[in-house]
Amino acid sequence: MPSTNRQIVLVRRPDGAVEQSCFEQTVGPIPVPGPGEALIRNRLIAIDPAIRGWLNARGSGYMPGVELGHVVRASGVGEVVESNLENYPVGTIVTAMTSWQDYTIITTDPTRPFEFATPVAPNVTPLEAATVFSHSGWTAYIGVHRILDVRPDDTVLVTAGASLVGSLAGQLARRAGARVISTASSAAKCAWCVDDLGFEACIDYRADDLDQGLKEHFPKGISKLFDNVGGTTLDTALRRIGHGACIALCGSISTDDTEEPYLLANHDRLMSRRATMCGFNTIDHLDLVPEIVSNYRAWLDDGSLIYRANISRGLESAPAALVSLYGGSGIGKSVIELE
Ligand SMILES: NC(=O)c1ccc[n+]([C@@H]2O[C@H](COP(=O)([O-])OP(=O)(O)OC[C@H]3O[C@@H](n4cnc5c(N)ncnc54)[C@H](OP(=O)(O)O)[C@@H]3O)[C@@H](O)[C@H]2O)c1
Repeated sequence: MPSTNRQIVLVRRPDGAVEQSCFEQTVGPIPVPGPGEALIRNRLIAIDPAIRGWLNARGSGYMPGVELGHVVRASGVGEVVESNLENYPVGTIVTAMTSWQDYTIITTDPTRPFEFATPVAPNVTPLEAATVFSHSGWTAYIGVHRILDVRPDDTVLVTAGASLVGSLAGQLARRAGARVISTASSAAKCAWCVDDLGFEACIDYRADDLDQGLKEHFPKGISKLFDNVGGTTLDTALRRIGHGACIALCGSISTDDTEEPYLLANHDRLMSRRATMCGFNTIDHLDLVPEIVSNYRAWLDDGSLIYRANISRGLESAPAALVSLYGGSGIGKSVIELE
């Protein structure tokens, strides 16, 4: 067990693409939990696209930016090693904002959202808690069922189909009986989408012409669009939406690192095709979580829902994992496993 607390702190804000030189590792004492607090030793840290937004001074719109010199914020899974917290004995596994460090102080005080922890159910593994049963995992279900209300006669485009959210969303849309086509950045990711996730097709947006691919696969237009990417991908897809289409804006990973807002050229299609475009954030739909958890558990157990994790070992691998999120390498949710 580490006798000090290593942290990876933000030393420079990225100007455009995030680089490893934005971060430095520091070593300090292990924090001591006060009354109503517990100390967790971090086991898994998720490398979520949201982290990129928190590196900007202005934050991500719903959460403030990380201060320079402060530990990088991230969600993850840890084990209670010292506790002054009722119902959280030593050994309890929790999800929390672990951040990029060995140890984190947690509470159950809702007025301290960055330290708020939730116990992981005994029938959920730590890796499942960091992936499918995370805020990001729930996002797929909320987008498919509550925002898009996918039906058997839908033709659905899921952008970033090999991401955690995209891969789950595509599987849920298929389960609802719809035709599903995705985008991804490589032949290997597209093969996973088609061969393992069961999507009808996947357009490799780096190698192929996206507009041509959409024209070919959606001869009557896209009826539901689950967009994780934004920017030119969303703009191109808008050209191919069908009459009465519904578009769920889930994420904009292609423009997360640009200061200038992306100006949509094809927004007029929303009007001419009587389409609806709607942004959503999972934090507004937490009432669905019990239903999601119960369904995900059943579907993972019977093998009808699958996911993949791309695990890197050691806290020091976190900056490289964040950088490579934008480089197209590695299939599956990027997760750091602490030794
Ligand atoms: N609305 C909400 O409440 C909510 C909650 C959680 C997550 N999200 C959003 O959901 C999306 C997916 O999150 P996740 O956790 O599932 O991601 P993830 O598993 O970490 O994967 C990120 C994906 O982004 C794609 N990507 C990276 N750079 C790109 C670029 N320039 N253009 C197009 N695609 C790019 C990569 O796929 P390729 O290599 O195939 O490009 C990668 O698979 C993100 O936009 C995230 O912000 C929204």
